[in-house]
Amino acid sequence: MACVAEQTIPVTLGERSYNIVLHPGLLGTVGDRLAAFTTSPKIGVVTDKHVAGHYLQETLRSLCRAGYDPTPIILPPGERTKTLGTIAKILDVLARQKFERQSLLLALGGGVIGDITGFAAAIYQRGIPFVQVPTTLVAQVDSSVGGKTGVDHRLGKNLIGAFYQPRAVLIDTLTLRTLPRREWIAGLAEVIKYGIIADEKFFAFLEQEMPALLKLKEEPVIHAIKRSCEIKAQVVVEDERESDRRRILNYGHTIGHALESLSGYRGLIHGEAVGIGLVQEADLASHMGLCGRDIVERISSLVQRAGLSEQVSEASFRSLWGAMQHDKKVIGGRVIGVWPVQIGKVLIRPIARQVCAAWFQDKHGRRGRPSSSRQPGKHSVRPKARARR
Ligand SMILES: NC(=O)c1ccc[n+]([C@@H]2O[C@H](COP(=O)([O-])OP(=O)(O)OC[C@H]3O[C@@H](n4cnc5c(N)ncnc54)[C@H](O)[C@@H]3O)[C@@H](O)[C@H]2O)c1
Ligand SMILES: [Zn+2]
Repeated sequence: MACVAEQTIPVTLGERSYNIVLHPGLLGTVGDRLAAFTTSPKIGVVTDKHVAGHYLQETLRSLCRAGYDPTPIILPPGERTKTLGTIAKILDVLARQKFERQSLLLALGGGVIGDITGFAAAIYQRGIPFVQVPTTLVAQVDSSVGGKTGVDHRLGKNLIGAFYQPRAVLIDTLTLRTLPRREWIAGLAEVIKYGIIADEKFFAFLEQEMPALLKLKEEPVIHAIKRSCEIKAQVVVEDERESDRRRILNYGHTIGHALESLSGYRGLIHGEAVGIGLVQEADLASHMGLCGRDIVERISSLVQRAGLSEQVSEASFRSLWGAMQHDKKVIGGRVIGVWPVQIGKVLIRPIARQVCAAWFQDKHGRRGRPSSSRQPGKHSVRPKARARR
């Protein structure tokens, strides 16, 4: 553990610049790393019940040792906590405890905690500093970097929020050891995504090291997280507010989000839906003549080797397209898609309903049945059945 060097990845955004710091065992020194970001002794540590059970005491000890006065705010785990009601509760605590403009919030947890904490920090006293300490793979490679914060609304996921950058992202890879396996594998879908959108060499590394990643071997895990963060940071630096370039991060998410919403956010977790999206969107790109079958096969094979499903079983075109329409990536009824042209290179292009319909019929037949020539992935998902409930 001690022999692994600390990694620092800068996110260069002018006065909103910050570093992503990556080190196994970092949690024990978190208190010493905050001096540059706050002059107030008060720190609100926002976490969830699962993460608190594993890592809250160590974090509080480190903060107290460094002279801070931490207030833990422990939330119920899961997406259902990502509401304005939770934000109101956090703001109540901050106001009651007389948190000031310089007081800092620490987000200790997965993407849910990071998104909530960032949004609370963005609006309390018009913005107080916050630091991300992500503890899931999804949070370490994706949600903690880039400054998208927010909560869900009854009528849509992530409907309310703000762009608000953290002062630092502090990653302790050892926290991944307690992550449920399903969450780990779901996070790998986002890691694979980075290879497809930006770096063929990284994709080849993942092909080579997938067995070691599945065993949580330290070196490949650190490399995978570091390279993912570098790619995300680079894209965010080029387009902080998603006017264009940042859209490439949505690869796999057009179909992925649609499947998540068809499953009522109960059947599939986010990364699992993205895993399917990575393969199916490549398939659609190949149908449109944008890439060869070899690209689809390579993506499909890696996704399956990661233990992710690649199938859209029984989802009819009508419901899939309908759900795709509800995505934020829709302009004038056309869905803005991200399509691989080769591994490491994607292009952004709208897709018309007829094109998507032709692809779907080609694949699944008129009644939306999956063709029998397809190999099922490891997990069978039936979004349509869930959507009917
Ligand atoms: N802001 C962004 O750019 C962005 C990007 C991607 C995803 N997101 C958001 O992130 C959320 C999903 O994040 P997630 O996948 O991290 O889920 P999550 O935060 O719900 O965490 C998943 C589960 O793992 C538990 N957990 C977390 N860390 C653990 C650890 N080290 N050991 C044991 N258990 C642990 C949590 O308690 C929870 O039960 C969604 O709300 C999504 O919208 C945001
Ligand atoms: Zn995602």
